[in-house]
Amino acid sequence: MCGIVGYIGPREAYPILIEGLKKLEYRGYDSAGVAMLSPAGLKVEKAKGEIAVLETRVGNNVPPGSTGIGHTRWATHGAPSDINAHPHCGCSQEFAVVHNGIIENYLSLRQWLQEEGHRFSSETDTEVLAHLVEHYFTDDLLQAVSQAVKQVEGSFAMVAICEQERDKLVCARKDSPLVIGLGEGENYIASDVPAFLNRTRRIYILEDGELAVVTASVVQVFSANGRLVQKEINEVTWEAGEAEKGGYPHFMLKEIMEQPRALRDTTRGRLINEGRDINLAELALTPEQCRNIERIFIVACGTAYHAGLVGKYAMEKILRLPVEVDLASEFRYRDPLLDPNTLVLVISQSGETADTLAALRLARERGNPVLAITNVVGSSVAREAEKVLYTWAGPEIAVASTKAYLTQLLSLYMLTLYLGKQRGILDGQSLAEMGTALYRLPSQVESILGREAELREISDYLAPWESVFFVGRNVDYAVAMEGALKLKEISYIHAEAYASGELKHGTLALIVDGIPVIALATQGAVLDKSLSNIKEIKARCGHVICFAREGEINFAREVDRVFSLPAAPDIFMPILSVVPLQLLAYYTAVARACPVDKPRNLAKSVTVE
Ligand code: M6R
Repeated sequence: MCGIVGYIGPREAYPILIEGLKKLEYRGYDSAGVAMLSPAGLKVEKAKGEIAVLETRVGNNVPPGSTGIGHTRWATHGAPSDINAHPHCGCSQEFAVVHNGIIENYLSLRQWLQEEGHRFSSETDTEVLAHLVEHYFTDDLLQAVSQAVKQVEGSFAMVAICEQERDKLVCARKDSPLVIGLGEGENYIASDVPAFLNRTRRIYILEDGELAVVTASVVQVFSANGRLVQKEINEVTWEAGEAEKGGYPHFMLKEIMEQPRALRDTTRGRLINEGRDINLAELALTPEQCRNIERIFIVACGTAYHAGLVGKYAMEKILRLPVEVDLASEFRYRDPLLDPNTLVLVISQSGETADTLAALRLARERGNPVLAITNVVGSSVAREAEKVLYTWAGPEIAVASTKAYLTQLLSLYMLTLYLGKQRGILDGQSLAEMGTALYRLPSQVESILGREAELREISDYLAPWESVFFVGRNVDYAVAMEGALKLKEISYIHAEAYASGELKHGTLALIVDGIPVIALATQGAVLDKSLSNIKEIKARCGHVICFAREGEINFAREVDRVFSLPAAPDIFMPILSVVPLQLLAYYTAVARACPVDKPRNLAKSVTVE
């Protein structure tokens, strides 16, 4: 995720900004830059790659000045490059802006600004902010920023500086964090506390809609309607290591907790009008291209493959198109049957997985259209696919994939609704019903995340066992596979997922007294069948922990424990049912003292075969 640093005070800003950016490296980034108010004017230095590349480029020509802003960019709009790196300037090179978040209406703003005579140099959404500030500036930077952010739809944490008002930084936020560090005769701004934790522990936390003017000696915070806000000073008690993880003990937990934000970001500009409509114009698919698709082939590895399995259920149900899902390592060597009208969909968080990339290349060689769902802009998969639908999960650091999986599911659902709309299968009302249900999911995930205590208790039961089963029918089976992978990957417990109806064809022999069985029962059409399977397990004295929708069959009477889930349409339930399974795996791994973020023998990105 992008990182922001700002400094104003008596000291040279450049080393402070670089140090702050380095402290934010853990967030992941692909380019870095700084802008300084030097005596000779506004100086911007930026470079693709690591901060070290920027430092080498600057060399001994360090821009002097004691006011500046810095940024590490995780590409969203436009590939990683020198030009797309932040800070961004207006036309006059008198204003510089750094920004985290996504500006949903940047294309229309850009067009309007171009008509007003502004010239753009990057592909980013952020550059519109710099031009907007420039456009509205008369003699007051706060006023200009305030007017600029009023026009912006989406999320932002931003800091601006300008030549004409050299004694201040102006910042604003909406749906993206920003904190102000309070020093003695100097002040800091950052997207995240670790950037300045070695310099001050006293902070203001900016709330959504607030703006601030930060000078060396004074910080003034204003509400969106311009009223001065009396802020409370917070004392940070975390140590630097913890702060990197947002106060969580592991990246995995931090990333699980970030999922509502990741989901919301992934819907931005796509689920319109609170989900009543959908727009994936970024795919530039004509209605005719959408109609011509006769079959879909989903190819991926690991967790991304499990997302594909869920996608199959949704696509076949809604689009009534045949969908095949394959592991990339199998697909690439089995001479798959690909008709010209088969859309090949590759899914990869990193966009660098060797098998997935090879599968993509094979499909392209065969002349098939390839659409990628990936989390990394500029990755090999993103560059080589014809079309890309980005998940906006932000960098995933823990080896175990969590927020990427959830945003992959959401992207598959959105793609399904979009194809349904373009192919004329979904009328306005059905689209609106499903879209609004999708739009509600982030809040529903939030409500599950608040129930960690229940899951801790369940994990206490799982932790001593060396074998755990996951069962489910229909799309629950696909989620069971992901739940089992999470548990085995980080807790080293043998975990096996089974289609509930298959138990009696072999696995039932392994059900012994007390063995934990995680049963997913969220699919209305097969609920009775799922219950019968649960009874089969109970009859062999298995310990059944059931995940079911609130208020459905009274599972409590039949099983050892029920975790109730909020209600969503059957096909979207995986986004809700997998979250407790992620937490269960996490707490079990912690109880077994496993190295959660870096499990043995595994790498985050599998770039070799
Ligand atoms: O980067 P990718 O999505 O292509 O990675 C695919 C798998 O290696 C990955 O999902 C892996 O299974 C995860 N570590 C599971 O948590």
